[in-house]
Amino acid sequence: FKVPVIDNEPMKNYAAGSEERKGLQAAVEKMLKSAPYEVPCVINGKEVKTGDIQSQPMPHDHVNPLCTYHAASSEVVNQAIEGALAARQSWEEIPWADKAAIFLKAADLIAGKYRYELMAATMLGQGKNAWQAEIDAAAELCDFLRFSVKYVEELYQQQPPRNSQGVWNRVEFRPLEGFVLAVTPFNFTAIGGNLVGAPAIVGNVLVWKPSPMATYSNYIVHKIFLEAGMPPSVIQFVPGNPPEVVKQCIDHKAFAGLHFTGSTQIFRKLWKDISNNLDIYRGYPRIVGETGGKNFHLYHSSAEIKSGVHQAIRAAFEYSGQKCSALSRCYVPSSLWNNGFKDQLVDETNKITIGPCTEWNHFTGPVIGRPAFDKITSIIEQAKKAGGEVIAGGEWDDSKGYFIKPTVIVTKDPKSISMTQEIFGPVLTVYVYEDSEYDNLPKLIEDTTEYALTGSIFAQERAALVSAAHKLRNAAGNFYINDKCTGAVVGQQPFGGARASGTNDKSGSIAIFSRFVSMRSIKENF
Ligand code: ALA
Repeated sequence: FKVPVIDNEPMKNYAAGSEERKGLQAAVEKMLKSAPYEVPCVINGKEVKTGDIQSQPMPHDHVNPLCTYHAASSEVVNQAIEGALAARQSWEEIPWADKAAIFLKAADLIAGKYRYELMAATMLGQGKNAWQAEIDAAAELCDFLRFSVKYVEELYQQQPPRNSQGVWNRVEFRPLEGFVLAVTPFNFTAIGGNLVGAPAIVGNVLVWKPSPMATYSNYIVHKIFLEAGMPPSVIQFVPGNPPEVVKQCIDHKAFAGLHFTGSTQIFRKLWKDISNNLDIYRGYPRIVGETGGKNFHLYHSSAEIKSGVHQAIRAAFEYSGQKCSALSRCYVPSSLWNNGFKDQLVDETNKITIGPCTEWNHFTGPVIGRPAFDKITSIIEQAKKAGGEVIAGGEWDDSKGYFIKPTVIVTKDPKSISMTQEIFGPVLTVYVYEDSEYDNLPKLIEDTTEYALTGSIFAQERAALVSAAHKLRNAAGNFYINDKCTGAVVGQQPFGGARASGTNDKSGSIAIFSRFVSMRSIKENF
C-alpha cells in the first residue's frame, strides 16, 4: 500500500471567544466536575480493579485528585505479561497495512473526538496550560502516530540492493522475541503514546507502566488505541508502584526490550539490573532511553538581544521548565549583559503570569508535585548560599498548588550547583563571561555536565557560529542555531541526546523503529 501524505497536525490557537476555546473550556469543566475518576489496570482489554487505591493529585490544587487508580498487584503484572506474550504471534501476523490503519485512526480520534478530553486530562493532571497541552496531547501525539507509519514503511523498504542471477536476497523485520516494557514520563502525554506506539507498530507486544503523575491522560490514550482497533492484549496498561512493576517485568525471562523516558539515575539502575539478568533471557534485550539534561544557550556578542531574551524566556519557563529539553543554563557575554540583556531578561521574567491551568491568562503553571517542589526550591536556596544572586523570582507558594515563580540566578561560578545539577523546574542560571573568553566557552559548556540533550547558539557573525557549533558537536543531540533549545517537532527535528542524556535513538525518526525489530536475512536460490 501507499502511505498517505503525512503532515504535522495543524495547531489550534484557542483565541478568546473562539469555538475551540469554548470546546476546551467545556471539557475542562466537565472533567473537574466528575473528578476523581477511577482508573483500573487494563489487562487483555478488560478492566481489573485490585483495590490497592492510589491517587494522582492535580498539581495546581493538590488536595484534589484528578483520578484514583488501582495499583497493579504482582498477580496482575503477571497476567499482563502472559496476556501480551499470548498475543504476540497473532499481532505479528496482522498485515502491515492493518497495523498502520490502527495508528492512523488513533491519530484521527485524538485530533477530533478526543482532542479536548485528552488535553483537559493533560492540563489538570500534569499542570499544562492550554497551549502547552495542544502542543503535546494533540499535535505531538498525532504526529508521533502518523509519522510512525511513514517511517516504518521506509524501514520495511530497506531491502538488500543486490541480487545475483538465480538469487533473491531479502530481509524480514521481525518483532523482538518476548515483550517490551514501556516506562513513561509525566511531562509529555505524547511521549507515553510514542513509547508504546513505536515498538507496537513494528509488531511488538508491551507492558505499559505509566508515570503515576500522568495516569489519567495515559489511560485515555490507551482507550483510544483500543477504540482504533488495537488488539486488546497488545498493550497492557499497568499503573502501580513503579519499582515493583518494573522489577517484575525485567525479572521475567521473556523480557525483550525497555523503552524508557525518565531520570538518568533510574535508567542506569535498570540497565544494571537487566545486565544482571542476562542469563535468564533468551536474547539480549534492547535498551532505549531518553534521560536527563542540562540544556544551554550560548550567546555571542553579535547575537540579537531582544529575540535572544525572548527565546530564553520561552525555553526556560514554558511548562515551568519541565520539558526534557528546557533551558537551564545561559552563557552571556558582558557586552550584551550590560547593554540590555540583563534588564530585558529581568523585565520579561517579572511579567510572566503564573497560575492554575484552569485559567486562561497564565503563561505557566505549577510544578508537578511535592518532591519536585522541594527539590527545586532547595536548589534555589543552595545556589543562593553558594553566592548566586537571584535577580528575578525566587519565591514560591505551595499552599494550594505547587507554584514556583520563574527564577533567574546569576552566578560567578560556572560550575556552581545550579549550573551543573538537573533541576527540571522554572530556574535559569546565567554565567556572564568576558567577551574575550568566547573561544573557551564550548569547552566550559562541555566540561560542566555529563549531559548532552539540547543546546543553542545565538550569533549574527557567521564565523562565531561556525566555530562554536563545531566545537559543541557532541554537547547536544538537538542543536539549534539562533533558536531556543525546546520545541523539537516530529517529522522535522528528530529528538534525543547522547552521553548521560540517553541512548540517542531519536524519537520522531526512522532510527527508533530499527531498535525494536529483529531482522532475518534470507537468501533464496532459484
Ligand atoms: N519535543 C519536546 C521538545 O523538544 C520534548 O521540547
